[in-house]
Amino acid sequence: MGLNPRRDAGTDSDDRASRRRLLGWLSGVGLFGSGILSAFSNFVFIKPRATYGAPQRFTAGKPSDYPDGTRVALEPRRVCIVRDGNKLAAISTTCTHLGCIVGLSETGFACPCHGSRYDQDGTVTGGPAPKPLAWYKVSLAPNGELEIDKDVEVNPGTYLNV
Ligand code: FES
Repeated sequence: MGLNPRRDAGTDSDDRASRRRLLGWLSGVGLFGSGILSAFSNFVFIKPRATYGAPQRFTAGKPSDYPDGTRVALEPRRVCIVRDGNKLAAISTTCTHLGCIVGLSETGFACPCHGSRYDQDGTVTGGPAPKPLAWYKVSLAPNGELEIDKDVEVNPGTYLNV
């Protein structure tokens, strides 16, 4: 307590005002933080955790199921299995123009949508396709079946020796 009671009363009210301001600021920060936390937890809750698309890695039978010279399209998987002697490869059948499924043709692949054409290796030979068909990684699973991984693209001409 000082000698001037009026002055001390003023300091008390200043202290209370600054304490009130601090508490107001803290509760504002707390409210803002809980709002952010709530929005984040709602986002996590709404976002699906499962995907239901076709798996990108799958087995496709034994190498002996594909005799030399085979070029067979696995429609639902959108790949073409190619066998050349002891070499096997998987080439995408998804057109690089707008994603239609290309069909096998005498010279390679042909897209029914806008006429893109590809040779046997998937190189563009005509039409609006901007790039060649993708080649996917092919390996042997422990049970001896071919395993194709559409998540892993390889350079065109990359075969699995069987
Ligand atoms: S989607 Fe194949 S040419 Fe357009």
